[in-house]
Parts: sequence; C-alpha cells; structure tokens
Amino acid sequence: MSHKIATVANVLSALDTICAGRLIKRAEDAFGRGSPFVVVKTSHLPGKAVTETPGLVVGSPEKPVHKLAVSMTLTESQIELAGATGVDAIICHHPVADAASSGGVPLRGYADLYNLAVFEAHEAFHGRHPGIAFIHGHKPIRVEIAYGGLPGNIMFVGKTLEEVKTVGDVIDRLGRFCDLTREESFLELERRERECSEINETCIAVSPQILCGTRDDRVNFVVHFFPHTGFTTDHLRQVKHEHPDIDTAIVSISRVKGEHPLVQTARDLGINMIAGNSHALEILENGLPMAFALQELLPEVEIYIFRERVTSVPISRFGSEAVRQYGRTMSSHLLK
Ligand SMILES: [Fe+2]
Ligand SMILES: [Fe+2]
Repeated sequence: MSHKIATVANVLSALDTICAGRLIKRAEDAFGRGSPFVVVKTSHLPGKAVTETPGLVVGSPEKPVHKLAVSMTLTESQIELAGATGVDAIICHHPVADAASSGGVPLRGYADLYNLAVFEAHEAFHGRHPGIAFIHGHKPIRVEIAYGGLPGNIMFVGKTLEEVKTVGDVIDRLGRFCDLTREESFLELERRERECSEINETCIAVSPQILCGTRDDRVNFVVHFFPHTGFTTDHLRQVKHEHPDIDTAIVSISRVKGEHPLVQTARDLGINMIAGNSHALEILENGLPMAFALQELLPEVEIYIFRERVTSVPISRFGSEAVRQYGRTMSSHLLK
C-alpha cells in the first residue's frame, strides 16, 4: 500500500486555497507588481522596512513535508525547535525577514541547515474568517478596513451573540476560549518552582479588562477596533453617530490604558469599553483556524502549533546561581 507524501508545493497550494488565491506563485511576483498583498511595512526607520511576500519564502517545492508547524512570529528559538523536532515546514503569520526572524543571521542558510521550508501569510490571510469578532462575542454587520479613510484602520460593528448579554459575559467568554484559568495556575506553578513571585507572563499581564462600565452592564451592539492601527476619538464619536445603538467599544490585539482619551470618550458617549485579547493570543484567534484548515487539506501531514510564551524576571532572580555568577563575572569585562 502506498502512502501519499505531501511536498512543499502541496503546502503552498493548500495555503493558497486558505488565502483565497492571494499568494505569490512565482518569485518574480514578490516585487509586488499588481498584488495588493505584497506590502511594504515601514515606519521610515532607515533600513528597517520589510516587504510581505505571502507564500513560500525559503525551500524547494519538491521537498517532502511530513511535519508542519504553524506560528505567529518566526524566531531563532522556533528555528531551533523545528530543527530538533523534525519539522519540515513552518507557516508564519507575521512577515519574516532576514536576521530579524533568524537570530541575526541571514534566514536562508539557517533554514537550509535544518532542511526547513518557511512560508508567510499575513495580510493575505486577514479577513478570511470572522473569528476575532466571534471570540469576542459578536457577529459583524459592518466591516471597515480603512475607517475614516485610513488604510489598515479596521473596524467591526457587530451584534452580540445570543449567549452574550453583559460586559461580564464577554470577559468570561474570552477567559474560557483562551484557557486563562490554566494559564494563571501555570504561572503560579512557575513562580513557585523558580521561587520568584515577580515573574510576569504576557497572557496574564494583559488579560481581558473592563476599561469603562461594570460587569453587569448590558451589551447588545458593539464597535470593535484595534488601537495600534490609528483609531482616534473622532472615529469613535463618528461611529457612535452612525450607529446610535452602540453600547460597548471593544479593543483587542493592542489596547489602551484607563487614562487614555479613547476611554474618556467612551465615558462621554455613555458606552462601556472592554480590552479584549492581546496580540499574544493571535495564535489562538488566527493560528488555530489556519492549522485546522491545513489539516483538512493535508491529512497526511502532522501539524503542530508553535506557541510563544514570554516571561519577565528580575535579573537578581534570573536563571541558576551559576549562570548569575557567570553574568556578573562577564559583565566586569564589559565595564573595563
Ligand atoms: Fe494578524
Ligand atoms: Fe498580528
């Protein structure tokens, strides 16, 4: 009995199906002629721009793929994990770049060393499923990708799902989907094991929060936006004017703090404001739907999720006594 073995070309084709045909199929197309999904991301810092080239970035199309990883942001730790665990290809959501994604060295040589194919699919994947609204408890009736004429300023206006009636329901729903109780006990376990109560971890440090309103306030009609994309207080006033029934603003991916003008504006408009999931949970929101779709299209491939878990530790408590002693000794060379 012969078993079908998937190749890098099959993975590219599956990913292209998932991204509605938006991927680059030929290397020449990476220069962006005509594709709106080949995008330069720049804040005009000299030498720091990156071009998103959705599709295969490194690897030969004929290479077999037995094991595939889905990740958000490629790092040297991920390349090492892939190499050590026999991963043949990794699909990253955020754009990859030489050195930035590969521990300060050119990406191709490092990926080739472990025979790892690398794909990316970012803007080409965005908007392909309604999960970010769903996970926050609503169904969009309006989706804008350039609200107020600002490209990338994504905004949803949505009606809450049947089971979501209050601010508390939104917060509890996010906790359930993101397994925050277990994340919290895992952090407690780590603090105990490492004998350091000062360790922080992203998911818990930025867990969902009520910025304005109370748990019992009713939620029916929401505006949902992402503060890092440029949404302003004028935009909030404008959308409330266009949809007077809006009773709640949800921010996610990024968030604002309690004293931010957007929170003050929500208060002035008499609406609730909720900070939902952070960018650290996009692996659940976008990574998991992509991984399940890939599994459906490539049943012969084993699929893993590469999840990042970032912690902060004061230097006085970081690592073993031996490595702290090492750190102090070496630092004396730096100060000569
Ligand atoms: Fe994304
Ligand atoms: Fe993202």
